[in-house]
Amino acid sequence: MDQYIIRGGATLHGEVEISGAKNAAVAIIPAALLVKGVCRIENIPQISDTDTLLTILTQLGARVSYLSKSTIEIDCTDTRYQDAPYDLMRKIRASYYLIGSMLGRFGSAKTTMPGGCNFGVRPIDQHIKGMRALGAEISVKNGFVYADAIDGRLHGARVYLDKVSVGATMNIMIAAVLAEGRTIIENAAREPHIVDLANFLNSMGADVRGAGTDTIKINGVEELHGGTYTIIPDQIEAGTYMVAAAATGGEVLIKNIIPKHMEGISAKLRETGTVIEEFEEALLVKGPTSLRRINLKTMPYPGFPTDMQPQFGVLLCLANGTSVITEGIYDNRFKYVNELRKMGAEIQVDGRVAVIDGGRRLTGAPVHACDLRAGAAMVIAGMVASGVTEIDDIHFIERGYERFVEKLNALGADIQVHYDEEESASARAFSIS
Ligand code: UD1
Repeated sequence: MDQYIIRGGATLHGEVEISGAKNAAVAIIPAALLVKGVCRIENIPQISDTDTLLTILTQLGARVSYLSKSTIEIDCTDTRYQDAPYDLMRKIRASYYLIGSMLGRFGSAKTTMPGGCNFGVRPIDQHIKGMRALGAEISVKNGFVYADAIDGRLHGARVYLDKVSVGATMNIMIAAVLAEGRTIIENAAREPHIVDLANFLNSMGADVRGAGTDTIKINGVEELHGGTYTIIPDQIEAGTYMVAAAATGGEVLIKNIIPKHMEGISAKLRETGTVIEEFEEALLVKGPTSLRRINLKTMPYPGFPTDMQPQFGVLLCLANGTSVITEGIYDNRFKYVNELRKMGAEIQVDGRVAVIDGGRRLTGAPVHACDLRAGAAMVIAGMVASGVTEIDDIHFIERGYERFVEKLNALGADIQVHYDEEESASARAFSIS
């Protein structure tokens, strides 16, 4: 099995460049299907989730070419309807955006239910509610989603989301761009990648207003044209390096970020005693000699992001005193706690609340990456633990962090990657980059 082997005890120092935002890229790539023309997209993160989506588009007939490691061109001008490739769709969560983009472009979509990290039940009822409001007939049978625009084309409508959902907000936005008339999404999510998707669509000729607020208005247009767009930096990748710097007591300059997007994360880190200096497109993070306990609760943006919860879970094992983390988004996002316990952590979990008895010295152990962010948290734990930590299931981590090991080792970490030939070959079979 592919593994990271981490020798603990490093103090991170230096500079790290943040890549393009995963959760923006995984919506923008499927949205390119709406465009007749060449979309040049810059700052694409090289991660397995974007590879998978680009492979799906290629199989649907798109022409995809790399101009550099992080700049691609996607041309979907001649793409014709066909069923989405099920084996690839099942691999990732963001494949749900193909429902919106195929419906918008072709008036039909047949896909599988999306895969992705398992945090408990992750329904897509709000996506379906939105598509139905736009005039699609949708049924879910045996793990497949069948969607058809009743009149062959979607029609604008008012959609109120019963839950603030990032995925549903973006998917309805994608579907509505080529619909006839005006769509209004109320109780919309406000994450930075929602604004990024709207900016991408608008730069290709769409008319989307209000992204970043809880009401988004989309005036349908007849056609989108090609153009060039640069994806925003990844808020969660940046936050992960900030926590790594704080946990190891290091000093790291986090470059190519938008400090405004980091405010929730920076505020909680400052409460732990971490010093953060802000620059125009960078943050300097200095870990304290001793960390203070805090309480935190995950919430939709601009609240504290659930995707940073496991990394903070590790940090708070090191802080003096008892910390409480409340998970406000998902039912089952504390699976990583069992792995941390193997390293000496003292954490009690009751439903969506974890009570962390801090001030512990972690010791290296063989552990699993339970999911993408939990895997990143285990890497941080391995760097601060004494001895050697072996992490398996690292394919989860590689879904979302570009050159993670290379970047951490450049900051002074000691991480080796052991690739299992068979496992790597099957992973490479899906990669087109
Ligand atoms: C996206 C992100 C994920 C992040 C999450 C919250 C992607 C590919 N993934 O996931 O990294 O953790 O936002 O910031 O961008 N819900 C419903 N019905 C729905 C949709 C969601 O009940 O139709 C619930 C979910 O179970 C969850 C909450 O709403 O409890 C928020 O989910 P949502 O914001 O949709 O997350 P995802 O889009 O799946």
